[in-house]
Amino acid sequence: MVLLNQSSEHVDLVQAIADLKKELNAVILAHYYQVDEVQDVADFIGDSLELARKAANTDADVIVFCGVHFMAETAKILSPNKLVLLPDMNAGCSLADSAPEDNFKEFVEQYPDHKVVTYVNSSAAVKALSDYCVTSSNAVQVVEHIGKDQPIIFAPDQFLGDWVIQQSGRDMVLWQGSCEVHELFSEQAIRDLQQEHPGCITLVHPECPAPVRALGDVVGSTRKLLNAVQEGPADATYIVVTEPGIIHKMEAAAPNATFVMAPGEIKGGPEGACVSCNTCPHMKLNTLDKLYQCMKNKSPGIELNDEIIERARLPIERMLSIG
Ligand code: 13P
Ligand code: SF4
Repeated sequence: MVLLNQSSEHVDLVQAIADLKKELNAVILAHYYQVDEVQDVADFIGDSLELARKAANTDADVIVFCGVHFMAETAKILSPNKLVLLPDMNAGCSLADSAPEDNFKEFVEQYPDHKVVTYVNSSAAVKALSDYCVTSSNAVQVVEHIGKDQPIIFAPDQFLGDWVIQQSGRDMVLWQGSCEVHELFSEQAIRDLQQEHPGCITLVHPECPAPVRALGDVVGSTRKLLNAVQEGPADATYIVVTEPGIIHKMEAAAPNATFVMAPGEIKGGPEGACVSCNTCPHMKLNTLDKLYQCMKNKSPGIELNDEIIERARLPIERMLSIG
């Protein structure tokens, strides 16, 4: 792909990225919500758990993380001696932003006898205040691993927390954060789509509120939803209730299936469906040109102090050893 990049050079970006990858001994990791062109040049595409495992085990000298900031931080915590690049440092996450370190510390101090279970969608400083991390793939498993009499705080996603309570039967104190994308899916629009497509299979991410999750035939992490497509009928119609980036891999896995994106709902406005409310604005900040630029400049890179790395690594490693 020959493009005019931000510095007005004509560059074959795909070739230039492949050349830089060799020169730097780099690995490109991408989340399923990245734009298609970025997914297409990645060495590995996965959900948060798979990407954390890859970051922990790679032989590369440089990890180029095409995802959001907390994911790149997790990679740095697991591989502190490697350079970890993020194409756009502004790629944040509403869940991580909902739990500032100081407020979270005060909250945790109110429950001194509780274990703190934290979704990886959180800052390194918040992970450092936690006992266990979880992703949407293994949250139920990690909570079930903790002794039944042990009280638990779950943060920062109230909806994932509520889903874990439903699945595990455990009572937990929930931090009231939410994902600005998944909290907006419109229950009514999904019901309408289900009526329009009889026999369809509805795939829902657990960051959605309970009434939306209740409409799902499969509820799970992006990897679990992709598995459902790989294992499902080749010509099925799927209603997809998560970020639309995942459709790229779903279409590759089942070329004869039909994928219908569930819309979001206009927040605070009149009742109505909004087709762009389901797109994560942070994930979409990374572009092929920014990926090329960050590899060429070896910047921007994730910087964390050693103390935070040490403290945040423990809850992540506990999670990785459980499942
Ligand atoms: P996964 O755990 O499915 O990768 O989800 C991460 C995420 O940010 C979802 O919004
Ligand atoms: Fe964060 Fe939601 Fe975007 Fe995932 S989709 S990165 S949880 S804002």
